[in-house]
Amino acid sequence: MREIRLLLVGFGNVGDAFLQLLQRKQKTLRKDYALKVLVTGVCTGTHGGALDPGGLDLEQLLQTKRNQSQLNGLSVEVIPQDTLSFINACEADIMLEISPVSYSDGQPAIRFIHEGLSKGMHVITANKGPIVHAYHELRALAREVQRAFLFESTVMDGAPILSMWRETLPAAHLTSFRGILNSTTNFILNEMESSVSFDAAVQKAQERGIAETDPTGDLEGWDAAIKVGVLSTVLMGTPLLPNEVERKGIMGLSQTQITDALASGKRWKLICMAEREGAKVRGVVKPIQVTSSDPLFHVSGTSSAVTFHTDVLGPLTVLEENPGPDTTAYGMLADLLNSL
Ligand SMILES: NC(=O)c1ccc[n+]([C@@H]2O[C@H](COP(=O)([O-])OP(=O)(O)OC[C@H]3O[C@@H](n4cnc5c(N)ncnc54)[C@H](OP(=O)(O)O)[C@@H]3O)[C@@H](O)[C@H]2O)c1
Repeated sequence: MREIRLLLVGFGNVGDAFLQLLQRKQKTLRKDYALKVLVTGVCTGTHGGALDPGGLDLEQLLQTKRNQSQLNGLSVEVIPQDTLSFINACEADIMLEISPVSYSDGQPAIRFIHEGLSKGMHVITANKGPIVHAYHELRALAREVQRAFLFESTVMDGAPILSMWRETLPAAHLTSFRGILNSTTNFILNEMESSVSFDAAVQKAQERGIAETDPTGDLEGWDAAIKVGVLSTVLMGTPLLPNEVERKGIMGLSQTQITDALASGKRWKLICMAEREGAKVRGVVKPIQVTSSDPLFHVSGTSSAVTFHTDVLGPLTVLEENPGPDTTAYGMLADLLNSL
């Protein structure tokens, strides 16, 4: 039986879902992969951290988080003061980087990933910031130290968008893509079609845990723009920062525009697009009215979809229905197994 030790940098919604998935899959991992997975370190921003080289108790970690208590009481070692020192102190084989996204510079997550790789850990992240701001640098470092750097969950949660390209589309050339990549705005637009006001729809999204307390990143199109940036950077080989994507959110859409569109058989969707233009990629995020002949017309609620246009196949569409932190957690587990 091979033992794998994990460090979690960040223990929020995704970390919680990941530990639950780990509990659910422990038997499969032992039986089918001969793997015993231990969590030897967990650190947070304001809720402390815990270190145990022998493996922390997953149930205790989850309970402590749910009680909103500090994790330090679970630690068998003194907790370092900051996250970089924590990464350095933790004995682990794989680091899961699941701290908050920074649209503007990808920090401090880039430093965390740099530290993890330099220390000889494989690194798996769900954080889009480091991919748009430091993909080439981090990938080069991972190659140099011969460690995996994987990030399937950054776009469309657990849907295998990136590994599909890596594993199953050799020599294919991505010329453009178009999709719905932000769950919160798709949910809000859906609610507004049922005559729920914009403010009430935002509140409903927050109550369901879909939208953040500060939902501007979703509403102004930043989350969608950074996802366009990830796909352009990784799949089209052309770096594209969130502020280089032409971006318009859903804030300006009125209730009347939405119900009028529906009455004429159309739906407003926050569409993400990217297309090669010479040596560059033009990325766009904006609300567009789509008709029922468009595959994106049928993408409802929190679902996401993307259609890829390549030089070898007809349009290839991936649809992910009702994703959440649990599907993001699965993307990370898939990366974990692929890193070994
Ligand atoms: N939620 C999803 O379904 C989803 C989907 C795809 C990708 N993602 C990405 O996954 C990441 C995590 O998302 P989430 O929903 O789990 O976020 P979250 O619930 O806000 O949790 C973030 C975690 O990071 C910790 N943290 C903050 N600053 C830190 C620091 N300097 N060092 C170490 N830990 C720090 C927080 O600790 P405190 O609470 O103590 O501050 C918290 O435990 C984000 O980058 C997000 O964009 C999420």
